[in-house]
Amino acid sequence: MFGVHNCVVGTGMYVPDKILTNDDLEKMVDTSDEWIYTRTGIKERRISSEDTSVLGGKAVENLLKNIGKNPLDIDLIVFCTMSPDNNTPSCACLVQKYIGAKNATAFDVNAACTGFIYGLVVADSLVKTGKYKNAVIVGSEVLSKLINWKDRNTCVLFGDGAGAVFIEPSLDVNTGILDTYTKSMGEKSDSLVSKSITIENSLIGENKEIDPYIVMDGREVFKFAVSSIVESVNKILTDNNLSTDDIKYIVPHQDNIRIIESAAQRLKVSLDKFFTNLYKYGNTSGASIPIAVAEMNESKKFKKGDLIILVGFGGGLTYGSVLIKW
Ligand code: UT7
Repeated sequence: MFGVHNCVVGTGMYVPDKILTNDDLEKMVDTSDEWIYTRTGIKERRISSEDTSVLGGKAVENLLKNIGKNPLDIDLIVFCTMSPDNNTPSCACLVQKYIGAKNATAFDVNAACTGFIYGLVVADSLVKTGKYKNAVIVGSEVLSKLINWKDRNTCVLFGDGAGAVFIEPSLDVNTGILDTYTKSMGEKSDSLVSKSITIENSLIGENKEIDPYIVMDGREVFKFAVSSIVESVNKILTDNNLSTDDIKYIVPHQDNIRIIESAAQRLKVSLDKFFTNLYKYGNTSGASIPIAVAEMNESKKFKKGDLIILVGFGGGLTYGSVLIKW
């Protein structure tokens, strides 16, 4: 099976109905629509009362509906999240139960906002071995439960949602996932943190106070984000003897329009080549790229043969890109 590319045969997404606008946030913390919009490009975000696995399950249901497949067809479920329901069972296993995908192997991947890129790389590699016929890769987050709603530095940035794609070996040897690139920088792990809540360990006798909310060094992450987009795009272009002119769309992780503008400038690419929808969803971490791909696919933006680069970056720190010929 090595050498056969996997193609994205379908997409699906799900976002909760509840909308939290910048005007709503003005009533909660010392901020303004003007500050949020000019500094980030975000106007509103979705807030979920359901679990991360349920959002992911609904995105997969929509995906299966869109491509007319049955849950029993799914061989592998890779669920990408930094806001799982539990330590165990994994969100992937909960989705398997939710949709009744009894034939699947299911597990989670955590690479924060790069989660979907990492998940796609893992699933693509496993399907390429021939051991799995296909894979569903889900990116889903309920970040609203990891937000300190009194902290204006973070509460204006994030949102909830889910997206999913179905991949299987391409019948056309020239199309599909052509190449991938991933990197991690564990030495910079303190720049973006959300700790898991631990119960008191009576064996050790310590009663640690754990703050589970997202804290980050915004400026540091901003610089990292711009340079990681530039590196990830340039690396995958160079490795495949391509230039930005060959690329129809760059689909970045959706976090801040200023980050995307700076990266576009440094890559000398028109901003139009970058798809953005962050104004309506905020930063949905591992869900942002599959939501973007699902929206683009559903609005028929992709034509057969288009070259697309997906690029992610985030906590860990982690980053990477995927080159797809549609
Ligand atoms: O997926 C990766 C996840 N992380 C990110 O995407 C974050 C990357 N970083 C960013 O997007 C930006 O750094 C932020 C949007 C977080 C902040 O923008 P900035 O232009 O870097 O602002 P700043 O942190 O330099 O803060 C400027 C001022 C500060 O006030 P002083 O110290 O100048 O008086 C902040 O206290 O803005 C203040 N500020 C706010 N004011 C109104 C910070 N948050 C807010 C707010 N409303 N929500």
